Amino acid sequence: MFRFLTSGESHGKALTAILEGVPAGLELDRAGIDRELARRQKGYGRGKRMQIENDSVQILSGVRHGLTLGGPITLQIENKDWKNWQESMSIEVPLPGVKRRVVTRPRPGHADLAGSLKFATHDARNILERASARETAARVAVGAVAKCLLERFGTRILSHVVSIGPHGLPPGNSIPWEKIEALPDDSPLRCVDPELEKRMMAAIDEVHQAGDTIGGSFEVVAAGVTPGLGSHTQWDLRLDALLARALVSIPSVKGVEIGEAALGARSRGSEYHDDIFYEAKKRSFYRKTNRAGGVEGGVSNGEEIRARAYVKPLSTLRKKPKQSVDLETKKPFMAAVERSDTNALLAAGVVGEAVTAIALVERFLAKFGGDSMEETRRNHQGYLRQLRSF
Ligand SMILES: Cc1cc2nc3c(=O)[nH]c(=O)nc-3n(C[C@H](O)[C@H](O)[C@H](O)COP(=O)(O)O)c2cc1C
Repeated sequence: MFRFLTSGESHGKALTAILEGVPAGLELDRAGIDRELARRQKGYGRGKRMQIENDSVQILSGVRHGLTLGGPITLQIENKDWKNWQESMSIEVPLPGVKRRVVTRPRPGHADLAGSLKFATHDARNILERASARETAARVAVGAVAKCLLERFGTRILSHVVSIGPHGLPPGNSIPWEKIEALPDDSPLRCVDPELEKRMMAAIDEVHQAGDTIGGSFEVVAAGVTPGLGSHTQWDLRLDALLARALVSIPSVKGVEIGEAALGARSRGSEYHDDIFYEAKKRSFYRKTNRAGGVEGGVSNGEEIRARAYVKPLSTLRKKPKQSVDLETKKPFMAAVERSDTNALLAAGVVGEAVTAIALVERFLAKFGGDSMEETRRNHQGYLRQLRSF
């Protein structure tokens, strides 16, 4: 069973992930994981924190001579900013007079208040340190391992930004995989339309000047997915449900659409559903359209998996404060903060790729199992043979 946990605070010493269930014999190198971490740090509209951090993974266990061993893999990413926070985040009880950086002013839209009430603390730092999207760096590292395994079986996963505020790609148009793949790693927003991307950047500039933030949406596409992942037989095995859970778990993602769900809600069945065809030469079924987004009945159908995620505007507002109430004094104040991203859509998309890879690899290994890559490969090939002789 593929499973993992992450730990670590935003300004703590490091983020750590322990994952298990990866078969032995998977080639894994730090550079591949670092590439994904670097992609998460990019994007037009990011704040100063991303200039401080230069994420790089340490593999502390589970890999020998470049190959996984089959046991738990420990990944660690240092927080470079920790050196500025050693006293405020010390494990030991701080000495008198030490800067504690207590937070009693909860920011609307963050976990600050809900978490402080739940965990019985008047210092919201105890909450925000873990609720921060810094945690997603650890998930991107885990996702890089998942991607690496899926790639061995022909599955590749990418994302692109669909909209920022009112500026977006026209609805109902499926962007071809090749166009998304052609986006360079230094693309400012990973938008496939350069003119639209300029308008998106101008919108980010405008809200940044105003000390405000702006929402948007991104799409994750998984190509070459083996048909048959997930199951209609039980609610919690449905692949679409698992993908939606994975994507909504990203901080600030508030909605998920599988395929053309919003279009479907406005359409007749005869217009919406994808016709089924059969190619005798390849002995396989296929579709000419993919409004279902690659999943039917909670099972992958072999078409590209397409999921869009809707991201709320970030809640740390520099010059447009929201009303809030101090946890200690119960007095009202206006919440405004200096350092924050204006928009993190590109990064959220990269995290979206990681969590999609994790959801897919979990179901992939549940179906094909295997303690070694050799065994997993044999099981996978046997299933593909079974599909061809259907
Ligand atoms: C990559 C990424 C970067 C983020 N950066 C910020 C940020 O700089 N400032 C901020 O207020 N929120 C940021 N967020 C969003 C918050 O983490 C999130 O809104 C908050 O934890 C509350 O969770 P919720 O929005 O899911 O309710 C970021 C989210 C992601 C995915």
